[in-house]
Amino acid sequence: MYEYAIAWEWLSFAARWFHAITAIAWIGSSFYFIALDLGLTKRPNMPAGVYGEEWQVHGGGFYHVQKYLVAPAQMPEHLTWFKYESYFTWISGFLMLCIVYYGGADLFLIDRTVMDLAPWQAIAMSLASLSIGWIIYDLLCKSPLGKNTWGLMGLLFLVLIVMAWGYTQVFSGRAAFLHLGAFTATIMSANVFFIIIPNQKIVVADLIAGRTPDPKYGAIAKQRSLHNNYLTLPVIFFMLSNHYPLAFATHFNWVIAALVFLMGVTIRHWFNTTHARKGKPTWTWLVTVLLFIVIMWLSTVPKVLTGETETSMTPVAQKFAANAHFGAARDVVQARCSMCHAAEPVYEGVNFTPKSVRLETDAEIAAHAREIYLQSGRSHAMPPGNVTAISPEERKLLVAWYESAISQ
Ligand code: HEC
Repeated sequence: MYEYAIAWEWLSFAARWFHAITAIAWIGSSFYFIALDLGLTKRPNMPAGVYGEEWQVHGGGFYHVQKYLVAPAQMPEHLTWFKYESYFTWISGFLMLCIVYYGGADLFLIDRTVMDLAPWQAIAMSLASLSIGWIIYDLLCKSPLGKNTWGLMGLLFLVLIVMAWGYTQVFSGRAAFLHLGAFTATIMSANVFFIIIPNQKIVVADLIAGRTPDPKYGAIAKQRSLHNNYLTLPVIFFMLSNHYPLAFATHFNWVIAALVFLMGVTIRHWFNTTHARKGKPTWTWLVTVLLFIVIMWLSTVPKVLTGETETSMTPVAQKFAANAHFGAARDVVQARCSMCHAAEPVYEGVNFTPKSVRLETDAEIAAHAREIYLQSGRSHAMPPGNVTAISPEERKLLVAWYESAISQ
């Protein structure tokens, strides 16, 4: 049975690798095309239908790209599409959500001090929120309000703030941030899948049939692209945030999340303006730094979180606590780990509970059995640099505890 924990860990690593690769490919091509689009220039005597062009140099050659605003007069022989980057980013991301947060719902998705959910309830809420998010967003874009670019953006920002707050009311802080990222990224991928690519297919079909395509399809796709552009950086922040408990596990985490969306806009705005050769709006960096300082400050108030109660043990945790090796394993953890992994760490230089992993009480230690096994039994990741001098025999005790409990 312990083989299962090891296989699961590797599956999780493989999915993460896959996800990082597809996301880099998607974001890379998306950044490239935004910069290309904004940097297009016009010159006299351009071919009919060409809106602008750009010369670029890269990798030992020169490129001459021309943009046809609606479509060229004839269908080109070879047409390269950019869609699988986006689709596979979503698919691999969803796979990771299943592996890490649904598979490990008790540990990562649910925080019983926030809301006492059964895994199936938490998973149902997660799935429902991701699909409803896209439906609400799509309806807003298609409503009369959708014609007002900045009004629509303001409204979408409001939806994101409500979601940030909502997620922190039902999930663990770490899962709340990840879900906010997944919520936003689902909208972005769905934009590509349901709007941008189908609209481009309509234009292509018109071209093949010899009809003149309607420019409205391009205009709609462009609006969705603009949203994706401004949402990219916040999504990356949320996806990486699970390494930084000060962001996700402090009292005002949902306000922090809202400010992250604003930072995404201010940073992108600088690049968009610069690529469009409309000057260098340095003020956006000033605003970004100010937002970041406010975020840092928000993560320190209040100093110590109150209202956290002793959590009851899940059935799985009870199994680990009831195992014959538990007493010995707990003594090891309390001797070698608790000085750092405490609500108020006493280890010099450790000011916050690392990764929000608390290993003080029986319930906390039993709840983290699998992570203790992987971090300190099977691997030597913890304690860092073995600063608390855990012995090989003690590591064996942790392995024996996990492996015998899991196969019971
Ligand atoms: C000197 C302080 C210290 C000690 C002692 C220590 N840890 Fe950690 N632990 C950390 C820090 C710091 C991190 C965060 C590492 C990071 O950000 O990647 C961490 C992270 C973790 C994580 C989360 C890993 C992840 O990536 O999610 C687990 C689980 C963990 N420790 C278990 C243990 C166990 C079990 C022991 C005792 C055998 C232990 N730690 C001892 C400081 C400590």
